[in-house]
Amino acid sequence: QKLVQTLPKEKGWLGPDLYFYQGFWYPTRILKAFISFQNHFQAFNSDIIVATFPKCGTTWLKALTFSTLYRNQFPWDENPLLTFGPHQLVRFFENDLYLNNPFPDLQNVCVYQPRLFSTHVSYTSLPTSTKDSGCKIVYICRNPMDMLISFWQFMTKVQDGESLSLDEAFDKFKHGIIVHGPFFDHVLGYWKASQENPNKILFLKYEDLKEDTGSHLKNLAMFLGVPFTDDEEKQGVIEKIAKICSFENLKELEVNKKGAHISGVPHTGFFRKGEVGDWSNYLTPFMIECLEKLIQQKLNGSGLTFKLSSKTSNNIASA
Ligand code: A3P
Repeated sequence: QKLVQTLPKEKGWLGPDLYFYQGFWYPTRILKAFISFQNHFQAFNSDIIVATFPKCGTTWLKALTFSTLYRNQFPWDENPLLTFGPHQLVRFFENDLYLNNPFPDLQNVCVYQPRLFSTHVSYTSLPTSTKDSGCKIVYICRNPMDMLISFWQFMTKVQDGESLSLDEAFDKFKHGIIVHGPFFDHVLGYWKASQENPNKILFLKYEDLKEDTGSHLKNLAMFLGVPFTDDEEKQGVIEKIAKICSFENLKELEVNKKGAHISGVPHTGFFRKGEVGDWSNYLTPFMIECLEKLIQQKLNGSGLTFKLSSKTSNNIASA
């Protein structure tokens, strides 16, 4: 409480106010859990962490990483994804494990080994042990226009009844005000770290995964230290994982159609359209021009680019 009183504060998109701590925006509930995570989590060399900015493909990457990493630990037709949601199987640190408990029993929450967790926390704010140990991080980001629309739709859905105009959401996003934002600082933090240490951080993009899930699954498996064998490739294991984790499949599973995540988000809230380029149905020409300029300015010199649509022409926003 004392710390919060000293922090810069802004009105959130909907719901609680956001506080600026160590360069990023958080509501108090998440901030408290994040500080417990930061102070108390001890990474193992074998740990894997799925790190993402919200609405960039967290649910999908959790499903893909879980199914790839543990594929030999359960019979294929008993993949736990059929009975548990991706967020129940790969649990968030700050949105779940540390939410109501500064010292969660992490050994008992991980049924399979090596341990697999997830976070939306920025690279710079991760606990020291995640950086000093051999623990590996898989990060996914998404073009900011689709992320913005996905986030805006999500907020309206989870804060029943309340609504935020796209103009307001756009204005806040432009100024970096969004839970776990600024978006570009988050993405660039992981991007630079992955450039410096590609064996520790695998940097993925939602659009690339959509375009060719199979080849990215192969890279993911290699990165996790569990490459697909020739036999597995012949048996179509890669295609099977891509299929079970697909938007169309996960969205229709009973487990993802009912109930809610521990944070209060209904499971259905994690599945909307799952497309690249849906922003073009919402953003005005003015917003598009502003965002294109912002992307150019923020990514300038970084080498990071985003595909803005699934069409092949005129779709790269880069420095
Ligand atoms: P849209 O709102 O654009 O549909 P997160 O998992 O980080 O919260 O991101 C949610 C976004 O990923 C939503 O995007 C959601 O529909 C999409 N999504 C969820 N599961 C997916 C899957 N298996 N494949 C592709 N996209 C998925």
